[in-house]
Amino acid sequence: MSTTWLLTGGAGFIGANFARFICETRPDVTLINVDALTYSGNLENLAGLENHPRHEFIKGDVRDAQLMRELIDRCDAVVHMAAESHVDRSIMDSKPFIDTNIGGTQTILDEARKLSSTTGSKRVLLVSTDEVYGALPLDRPDLLFREDTPLAPNSPYAASKASADMLVRAAHHTFGMDVVTTRCSNNFGPYQFPEKVIPLFVTNLIEGRKVPLYGDGLNVRDWLHVIDHCEAIVRVLEGGTPGDVYNIGGNNERSNLELTKSILDLMGRGDDMIQHVADRPGHDRRYAIDASKIKAELGWEPTRSAWPDALVETVAWYRENEGWWRRVKSGEYRAFYARQYGA
Ligand code: NAD
Ligand code: TYD
Repeated sequence: MSTTWLLTGGAGFIGANFARFICETRPDVTLINVDALTYSGNLENLAGLENHPRHEFIKGDVRDAQLMRELIDRCDAVVHMAAESHVDRSIMDSKPFIDTNIGGTQTILDEARKLSSTTGSKRVLLVSTDEVYGALPLDRPDLLFREDTPLAPNSPYAASKASADMLVRAAHHTFGMDVVTTRCSNNFGPYQFPEKVIPLFVTNLIEGRKVPLYGDGLNVRDWLHVIDHCEAIVRVLEGGTPGDVYNIGGNNERSNLELTKSILDLMGRGDDMIQHVADRPGHDRRYAIDASKIKAELGWEPTRSAWPDALVETVAWYRENEGWWRRVKSGEYRAFYARQYGA
């Protein structure tokens, strides 16, 4: 049976990969893709889908209640991933994070709830993040984030995402809404905005610039290929228990120094290209995910995230798509870069 999903934030990194993945693999699904095209939203990420019969793009804001109502009315379920997504930006100015990540999520929940009396309950999936759990210590490799780990967000970004999580939880508890939440680790892959560490470092090296490594470089992230994440979102959307949270992870922990050295190796450059810079304020030490629930309940496991192959492939994508990131880097991104790293 055919179905229609509303995708929010579908011109960003994960959203554009999600749209491409669905158009390629799910002939039964029509996507309505709404995105405000902020600095990180880029229609070029959706190139090739312009005339796709099952993909419709609408420029719009998730805080626009009337628009959300019209679009939710047209769909069977919502995959909500529109957000301000970069920790360093949230440290510079948290307001857009509060407005979009919290306000936008509540707008979607409110409009979906209002419609449910006439059209029946529509599932809303919130794409959240492992950053809501805070940080794990480096000297306890046995510890992992589980779905019942208390939330302890440390950055304004993480706090805004944790707030959205809690609003989704409240919508289920108070109103019985059909909601599910995913909390995923760090993604990598094509079309990631080059402010995030992997595309930033790869593109800097192609430009002959050094890579700015924060602090001692020992912070650990768990890396997951974006299409593995997209596949997990679909599993949770279609099979998750109403009101539940599902962790998604790559079982692929790397320190930033290890990641940096792998990228330098792949680019044929040495350690002299590392520029040690001041640490990020409040920099979370380690993220690590226990993804056993989604595996046991929904049969999902990562299949595209194994290193070094997945990293090699991603580095190759940025090498082969220089026009894409050069256009991105020459835009508004420049002013942000100068503020963050100085001249
Ligand atoms: P991104 O910054 O690349 O994309 C975000 C998209 O949301 C952009 O296209 C932007 O234009 C759009 N957007 C922002 N504000 C909007 C608004 N008010 N209305 C409509 N659209 C708006 O981010 P991403 O990395 O693709 O992240 C997508 C989601 O996944 C976010 O919710 C993020 O918290 C979550 N997430 C990301 C990662 C990761 O590693 N990138 C990991 C876990 C979870
Ligand atoms: P990032 O890609 O911003 O993702 P997140 O903060 O959501 O994990 O950063 C990943 C890691 O890389 C994080 O520990 C911070 C570090 N990092 C640097 O060392 N230098 C940089 O210039 C950036 C952007 C990140």
